[in-house]
Amino acid sequence: MMIGSGWGIYNDSVIVHGLYFPQAVRIGSWAAESLLWHFAAMWVLALNGLAYLIYGFATGRFRERLLPIRVADVIATVRETLLFKIAHDDLTVYNAVQKILYIVAILAGVLQVITGLAIWKPVQFSGLVELFGGFQGARLAHFLGMAVLVGFLAVHVTLALLVPQTIRAMLTGGPRLRAPGAGGSR
Ligand code: HEM
Repeated sequence: MMIGSGWGIYNDSVIVHGLYFPQAVRIGSWAAESLLWHFAAMWVLALNGLAYLIYGFATGRFRERLLPIRVADVIATVRETLLFKIAHDDLTVYNAVQKILYIVAILAGVLQVITGLAIWKPVQFSGLVELFGGFQGARLAHFLGMAVLVGFLAVHVTLALLVPQTIRAMLTGGPRLRAPGAGGSR
């Protein structure tokens, strides 16, 4: 929703000369309508994102799943991926490249909210605008954050389609985990 409506807003005043998004991939038939969609969906994103971040930090899930990242593991995972030997016997354990990509995606999401606030209310959030070197800088950072998330989505969805049981896990909340040392499941 944020990407499609963002592309609708973008077309009104392009950042990359010659780059326009066709109507088929835009949400909203013209910029003002896209902006309305953008602001409506922004609340879903921000509230969901906040709940996700609080949950991730408070329960230790982020530390447990996304850390540590070792250089040797990154090299080994890249090599295995290039040889199409993607390990997926345990979906609850992320490989080193997955960890990096998830952290990048979370940070890009946070960047989108911060730069979004800056370009939405540049007077009230003038400090934020200054952080990005002015309105155009914040706008550019907002656009680049979108590009990072689109790149992430493309890789993420492609890899998920290659390992179909991950799609089921993503939609249903993941496989049941065995509690360490216990016979039952949690
Ligand atoms: C709280 C979250 C967000 C807020 C408050 C926000 C706000 C805005 C505003 C005010 C604009 C219009 C900029 C202008 O007038 O030029 C805009 C544009 C845009 N937004 Fe967002 N946004 C948010 C999140 C996102 C996210 C998550 C994405 C995509 C992943 C996104 C993608 C875009 C794109 C592609 C544009 C068009 C770029 C441009 O032409 O400036 N936004 N956003």
